[in-house]
Amino acid sequence: MVRELRDLGAITSDSVAGAVAVVPRHLFAVGEPLKAAYAANQALVIKRDEDGTALSSLSATHIQAVMLEQAGIEPGMRVLEVGSGGYNAALIAELVGKNGASISVDIDAEIVERARKCLDAAGYEQVEVVQADAVAGVPGLAPFDRIIVTAGAWDIPSAWLDQLSERGRIVVPLRMRGLTRSIAFDRTSGPEAELVSDSYRLCGFVPMQGASAYTERLVHVTEGLALRVDDQKQDFDIDALAAAVRSPRLEVWSGAAFDLPDELELFLATNTPEMVMLHGSKDLVDQGLLALSVTRGVPALVSGGSFAYRTKRPNEETGGFESGVLAHGPDAEEVAARYVELLRRWASDHQRRGAARIAYRPMPAGTAEPSQGVVAKRLGTVAFSWT
Ligand SMILES: C[S@@+](CC[C@H](N)C(=O)[O-])C[C@H]1O[C@@H](n2cnc3c(N)ncnc32)[C@H](O)[C@@H]1O
Repeated sequence: MVRELRDLGAITSDSVAGAVAVVPRHLFAVGEPLKAAYAANQALVIKRDEDGTALSSLSATHIQAVMLEQAGIEPGMRVLEVGSGGYNAALIAELVGKNGASISVDIDAEIVERARKCLDAAGYEQVEVVQADAVAGVPGLAPFDRIIVTAGAWDIPSAWLDQLSERGRIVVPLRMRGLTRSIAFDRTSGPEAELVSDSYRLCGFVPMQGASAYTERLVHVTEGLALRVDDQKQDFDIDALAAAVRSPRLEVWSGAAFDLPDELELFLATNTPEMVMLHGSKDLVDQGLLALSVTRGVPALVSGGSFAYRTKRPNEETGGFESGVLAHGPDAEEVAARYVELLRRWASDHQRRGAARIAYRPMPAGTAEPSQGVVAKRLGTVAFSWT
């Protein structure tokens, strides 16, 4: 598994390789075959709610390794993990060594009990497992040099910033306009501390529960078509959008390569507050009304009763794909032109991994406003600049 994770680029340091090599993951994957326990990219669900939705899982070692590398944990550090499975806390215990501290907090008593048992069985009695809603951090055991969040967060509770040491770092899977990225944020010094990052990675996590849980709005447009919206206040002309879907569509090709889809998606989704995620059914695709990109969710620019979204086609000359836009509604030309301009700008200026610089700025609750390159949260803003 260690070799595989190195080959996949998830493990880049000897310290993380060493930790993954010594912690017996099968003791945290009780009842699972060894093959599943040591599969590099397999999460194992531990608890589901009554509808079958996963509430807790032993995360795939791949994303755990990626986040540990992002965290840059050194011997002697105090590290808080939000969300307990035991395994990751054991890896952290290896990284911090006997002069550091690995503390894990989970909201769910059953999960805490399970993690405790697994840690004891594997010989990690020194790891502290606390039952609490992590929205308040763990004040009694703070400050922390690192906070690693292993549940999908929509915002950054002020306690996490307050309990972070002067040069501390938070690694958090943050959800922004329907997309989740594991972002490594460094705390800036001074009284008006904010968080700055130049490291983010694709990931998926079970959502945060408790006081900081957040449900994105799903706005139903018509049978098989919905908008996933971050902003609870944003208005939509549903009748006009429903009519637009069935109106003839405008197709505009950018001439730019379609590449690094997750990077492009982040650029598009966070660029303007009018960008939402468009989710369409295969049925609408089969009827010839929408392109395949909608079935997985695609950033869409919505303006009044018109909308535009990204598509792609094979590029016969260069190989690979060319990005393009499909637009519907009375202002199809205008929204398509704005969207194509974004596709071209990304391809000419930012088409590479890690081009975004991301900053989180705390603000008084409820005062943050979205704007260009700025995603508003309840307790602050996430600002993007692209290099
Ligand atoms: C993906 S699992 C954690 C995996 C774990 N870190 C591992 O070693 O594999 C996410 C956990 O976050 C917990 N969680 C969700 N919301 C929480 C909250 N507000 N405070 C603390 N824990 C929370 C869930 O109960 C769940 O056990």
